[in-house]
Amino acid sequence: MLNPHKAGTPAKTTPVVVSTWDHGLAANQAAWKVLTDGGYSLDAVEAGVRVTEADPEVRTVGLGGYPDASGEVTLDACIMTEAMDCGSVAFLRDIKHPISVARAVMEHTPHVMLVGSGAQEFALSRGFSKENLLTAESYADWQRWRAQGERPKDINIENHDTIGMLALDNAGRLCGACTTSGAAYKLHGRVGDSPIIGAGLYVDGAVGGAVATGMGELMMKTLGCFLVVELMRQGASPGQACKGAVLRIAEKLGDYAAFQVGFVALNCQGESAAYCIQPGFSYARQDQRGAVLYQSEALLGEAI
Ligand code: GLY
Repeated sequence: MLNPHKAGTPAKTTPVVVSTWDHGLAANQAAWKVLTDGGYSLDAVEAGVRVTEADPEVRTVGLGGYPDASGEVTLDACIMTEAMDCGSVAFLRDIKHPISVARAVMEHTPHVMLVGSGAQEFALSRGFSKENLLTAESYADWQRWRAQGERPKDINIENHDTIGMLALDNAGRLCGACTTSGAAYKLHGRVGDSPIIGAGLYVDGAVGGAVATGMGELMMKTLGCFLVVELMRQGASPGQACKGAVLRIAEKLGDYAAFQVGFVALNCQGESAAYCIQPGFSYARQDQRGAVLYQSEALLGEAI
């Protein structure tokens, strides 16, 4: 059910899109096309992250994503508008574009979140098709992992590159999307931060938005993206707000240094920044000046 109380009349802005990691560059291109055609930022973020979901080379999102410990690819995603409408799916199997199912949950149900077989049944009822998302490469990697003794793999620099995207359109509407296959070889049934509104994504159309990547449990314990937006509401810049959320994790969660977490924020003035725990997190920005890949500042060292 969509929010009848829209977020007021936003100021006109120049469009901008930001997203996580190097693969954000290609995703931003698709979003940018929507924005420069005068489209809605909701359509832009959906089109953008669908590029990553469909790319088998990106091993932590959609098709070709690393499976869980049982060998199944299970996907999490959510989407949120400037008016606080949102939709989410978790533990979704065999559907290549969970972000579009999340949008359908938002637009065609009275609910925010559907999970597991219920989410899949809903997707099929909306015309989505089942397909095998486990590529030969991901299957071979999973077999190698099992041969090593089925040790649960911590989320680290190799396996947490969720795509999160925020876009501001030329009508001043800011929307966001987040989609992932989650941690490689996670316990069957594990859901991370990416489909949790406030943890993996949060948007307030009067303030700005934030997306997260990395060790989902740390974002879930701190509602990191909600915190980033609330800090911006209190006057912090996007960079200060992202750093504030990382510092909250460091202050409250003793084992933070063993993991990566990265936040990207975009405010309604079009300013963006990122902050992370470990060096090596990149984020992509596209605006009228062009496409740029930035290295995020990191709590544990200088950006590479
Ligand atoms: N941030 C993705 C996950 O932990 O599942």
